[in-house]
Amino acid sequence: MDFSKLKKQVILKGGKILDPIENTIKKSDLVLEDGKIKALGKFNSNKSAHLIDCKGLIITHGFCDLHAHFREPGREDKETLESGSMAALAGGFTRVCVMPNTNPPIDSPEVIRYIVDRSEECPIYIHPIGAITKGQEGNELTEMGTMLSEGAVAFSDDGLPVTNSAIMRNALEYGTMFDIPIINHAEDLCLKQDAVMHEGKVSTHLGLPSSPDLTESNMVHRDLSLTDLTGGRLHVPHVSSSKSLDHIRIAKRKNDKVTAEVTPHHLFFTDNDLQKFDTNLKVAPPIRTTSDQKALIKALKDGTLDCIATDHAPHTIEEKEGTFDLAPFGMIGLESCFGAVNKVLVKENNLDQLDLIQMLTTRPRKIMGFNDNLLDIGVNAELTIIDPNEEWIFSRADIQSKSYNSPFIGQNMYGRVKYTICKDHISVI
Ligand code: DOR
Repeated sequence: MDFSKLKKQVILKGGKILDPIENTIKKSDLVLEDGKIKALGKFNSNKSAHLIDCKGLIITHGFCDLHAHFREPGREDKETLESGSMAALAGGFTRVCVMPNTNPPIDSPEVIRYIVDRSEECPIYIHPIGAITKGQEGNELTEMGTMLSEGAVAFSDDGLPVTNSAIMRNALEYGTMFDIPIINHAEDLCLKQDAVMHEGKVSTHLGLPSSPDLTESNMVHRDLSLTDLTGGRLHVPHVSSSKSLDHIRIAKRKNDKVTAEVTPHHLFFTDNDLQKFDTNLKVAPPIRTTSDQKALIKALKDGTLDCIATDHAPHTIEEKEGTFDLAPFGMIGLESCFGAVNKVLVKENNLDQLDLIQMLTTRPRKIMGFNDNLLDIGVNAELTIIDPNEEWIFSRADIQSKSYNSPFIGQNMYGRVKYTICKDHISVI
């Protein structure tokens, strides 16, 4: 990936502008000046401008990821805010919310301030999600109000569930004061035990320890009930099972404070793929069956699921080379996201391209309250330029992350991010 400062004037020539707010796709050139949107329309090149040929390409809002792990502070050998930013740019993401399961966890106003300050030096916009409980230990709420003042955008103990229902109730109730999302990693650890995959025919065949879909859906059901009780805002992360979707669908009929996301890997893979014994497919919650996968696709189409979030979770090769029981949960996902979801949703399941772009741009932004119109004249350019039809194979060379734990390596992709523009810089992918 080539990364450089934008020239004073840039003309994006001959592309289609996909506006996810107006719901339109129009042919138009776009001029940037000093890193800002200057004009839309038809423009001839001039000598001093940098001309980018966008024929056949779609220009749209920079993608926004609600769910990534950048491992800073504490595990900078896996990812830093800078290397995570480069992975984001390679995937078309200009704005990323980072989860607090770092070391130490992002559980105090001071660590929130640290992430906010450090992110100023990074080439994308990074927003910290604060921990719900101190030390992510599940016992005592963090100082949510002060953490919000320092720049937290939501709260989660992601990687771990909030098991104690009274604590979860208090978090949701406290959240109503600030109208911010509470994001609970829904997995009942008592039911999960030492499971490494979904419980079903494939786990029986492979002889690997497994846990049923209820491990997730029971806790999703509890969280939805507590949301009703408190009037809080609940965002359900990485939904993986059809049973959870049933609960979310019912809850959404009467409660507009519930939102939910799905990962590219839960859309792309099924538990059958674990037959290759690739530990990169060991994730929490686990990859489930073909029928869960179909239910997730349907739920995106009918609005039960709001958006796509990567759950980019870098781990070292040494850790992932261990056996299935020892390898940590997680896979990276920023660089492979668009090619994977565009293939599954647009090519294979006839989702409208506009809808998919909304799931990566305006919808996650709305959940977090980042509501800028990125195509307005005068705004800082935060744009992603894609070839919606390029067929390619994802390889190690496409990875900018410090870690390589991706089961997408070697997979056919459809649609590719070509350029990402953010903070007066351009990444050519
Ligand atoms: O697979 C996962 N890995 N799921 C999570 O929720 C946490 C993540 C991690 O931090 O590695």
